[in-house]
Amino acid sequence: MCAVVTATVVTGISELVTNDRAHGDGSPLGVLADAALVVDGGRVAWVGSAGQAPPADARVDLGGRAVVPGFVDGHSHLVFAGDRAAEFAARMAGERYDGGGIGTTVAATRAARDDDLRALLARRVAEMRAQGTTTVEIKSGYGLTVADEERALRLAAEVTPETTFLGAHVVPSGAERDEYVRLVCGEMLTACAPHARWVDVFCEPASPHAFDGDEARAVLEAGRAAGLGLRVHGNQLAAGPGVRLAVELGAASVDHCTHLSDADVEALAGSDTVATLLPGVEFCTRSPYPDARRLLDAGVTVALATDCNPGTCYSSSVPLAVALAVREMGMTPAEALWAVTAGGARSLRRDDVGVLAAGARADLTVLDAPTYLHLAYRPGVPIARALELAP
Ligand code: NIG
Ligand code: FE
Repeated sequence: MCAVVTATVVTGISELVTNDRAHGDGSPLGVLADAALVVDGGRVAWVGSAGQAPPADARVDLGGRAVVPGFVDGHSHLVFAGDRAAEFAARMAGERYDGGGIGTTVAATRAARDDDLRALLARRVAEMRAQGTTTVEIKSGYGLTVADEERALRLAAEVTPETTFLGAHVVPSGAERDEYVRLVCGEMLTACAPHARWVDVFCEPASPHAFDGDEARAVLEAGRAAGLGLRVHGNQLAAGPGVRLAVELGAASVDHCTHLSDADVEALAGSDTVATLLPGVEFCTRSPYPDARRLLDAGVTVALATDCNPGTCYSSSVPLAVALAVREMGMTPAEALWAVTAGGARSLRRDDVGVLAAGARADLTVLDAPTYLHLAYRPGVPIARALELAP
């Protein structure tokens, strides 16, 4: 018989980032030096100075490492088969990204068996966890038939509650545009909604494959009527209606935000819609980065996520997103860490993750480093991992 551990005290924490302003100097990260934390029943039960830690049934000593809230990756496309390395190589040789390669992944994904897709998905989620991600949003969008979209969401729901119906990723080859939008808003949505928390649309009039403002509005309104929360892929390739539509309809998040007008920034600043920036995409498509500084200075809530997908960014690394945001997008290391934890949580409208305070989920990410600054300071070095505690 094995003993049941009730409370565990985690000690040896050189620096604890709580995202709770009650700690530290009142700044958003709520940083405590030389800290301890008690976990009970999968939840945080206590946070404070090492010297004041209450007794517990078990103890884990981290030997002087930093601990941050588990990363919340609010944008990924992990349910897919196939490989587009050749498309990446062509892009590095000068070709532009326009979403046309999505069809390659759709064909490979449709051809895959359930168990093969399930295994690919499990491997990608494990890869994320090994790099510090403890909450992940996963989109469909590589099926584009009623049965294939429903299957993608069913598989995604096996690994996360944050599932997103993205039937409106592109118009599949051979389909007629208006008819396909009607299918997405009708039969496909009905089949997918029971497995999804969110609906998303690739609103990008600049791409011949994606959807314009009117089509995106139809998809989002149908999703909302089916009880789903709203997310938008907007303003990735060029200026367009995505951001303003997201704000008008009260979307939780509009993602990419690479090409923004002053009116877009103003609309975001006066809203509850989070701007989720995806710097791995600009890195892997050799494109200009979004201007995070402009958004932050305007008062917009900014999250950072990976967008892990086989086309524009086949990286599951949140630390890479942090390093790029700091080096290329004008974010401070503190802003970038907040954006991959509390910001990601806001983008998913969650208050139980992205924070280490009593009652929150005990999702702890340990850094093989004395301070969170190393996330940006040591690019490419695998210092972050999710802490596995005994159940
Ligand atoms: O977020 N922009 C649309 N969708 C993905 C890319 C999908 C793909 O190319 O396979 C993105 O960048
Ligand atoms: Fe995406």
